[in-house]
Amino acid sequence: MRHQQLPASAEVVRRVQETADIFTLQLRLDDPSDPSLLTIQPGQFNMLGVFGVGEVPISFKALTNDHDGTPLLEHTIRAVGRVTRALSALKPGDRIGVRGPFGHGWPLAEAQAKDVCVITGGLGCAPAVSVVEHLFVNRSAFGRIHIIQGVRHSDDLIWRTQYEAWARKPDTEVQLAADSAAPDWPWFSGRVTELIKRLSLQPERTRVYCCGPEPMMRASAEQLITQGVNEDAIWLSLERNMQCATGHCGHCQFGADFICRDGPVFNYPHIRDRLGLKGV
Ligand SMILES: Cc1cc2nc3c(=O)[nH]c(=O)nc-3n(C[C@H](O)[C@H](O)[C@H](O)COP(=O)(O)OP(=O)(O)OC[C@H]3O[C@@H](n4cnc5c(N)ncnc54)[C@H](O)[C@@H]3O)c2cc1C
Ligand code: FES
Repeated sequence: MRHQQLPASAEVVRRVQETADIFTLQLRLDDPSDPSLLTIQPGQFNMLGVFGVGEVPISFKALTNDHDGTPLLEHTIRAVGRVTRALSALKPGDRIGVRGPFGHGWPLAEAQAKDVCVITGGLGCAPAVSVVEHLFVNRSAFGRIHIIQGVRHSDDLIWRTQYEAWARKPDTEVQLAADSAAPDWPWFSGRVTELIKRLSLQPERTRVYCCGPEPMMRASAEQLITQGVNEDAIWLSLERNMQCATGHCGHCQFGADFICRDGPVFNYPHIRDRLGLKGV
């Protein structure tokens, strides 16, 4: 069995340009019989490495199948710096290193028979895809599903047809918000926290999974609590620079926690007092 610290080699099978700086990679492992990377859970992440450049943590988006049934790992990435730009320059046939899966994902067993509200901002929608797909695959295990996504501008929305398809599913509410919107934007114009006020939640039976910029997650959690959601029922996914991803180097330290080892998904009361503080 491959040691978790050793990268597995994977081929880029497909590359989809989602927006000017966001792209999705579909990866086929050179050794598909290695089960460890394919047991990844919603909310966990992999370290994707470009040989000679470096590695970055990227959330698991989806596990799909190629035409011949070979499993493909899917990650959606925004090109912001050295490594993500190198990932962006990859073409089908190129190879990268993949280490993982790392961290704790969303506590899905705890949400059984409850309503689940998935709130995302910006590219937080990418890791949310895996959890939403899990909810639909195991539909009878959960109550009502609310999917909320906020973007800065309506032009930033990706996967519009995916949201429209989710909205057609039974007992599912999909709401999208844009801070500023083009005139033909059919959804809510304003902040995601304003949109949360309009949701028809049953607070006592709702579990919330939130992924996006930290100020947006904090404001969303505070708003949900004023609407009666128990703070123990709210889970946030945090991001920090990482290196080892196994709790050894200290790069991702967040107070007493290492985000790679103890997160990236945390229960809100556990991190509430540290959110927004610099240097913790
Ligand atoms: C658990 C986890 C999951 C993630 N999932 C995704 C994902 O699915 N898709 C995606 O596009 N990105 C994701 N990220 C963020 C991604 O890891 C960073 O964008 C990446 O490390 C930047 O590396 P770089 O070498 O390209 O940029 P750098 O040259 O290192 O930095 C460029 C800019 O990005 C900032 N930055 C660097 N790392 C991070 C980070 N971890 N979080 C926030 N800002 C950072 C730097 O401060 C700088 O301003 C995730 C991060 C974590 C910790
Ligand atoms: S990245 Fe090394 S401790 Fe988390």
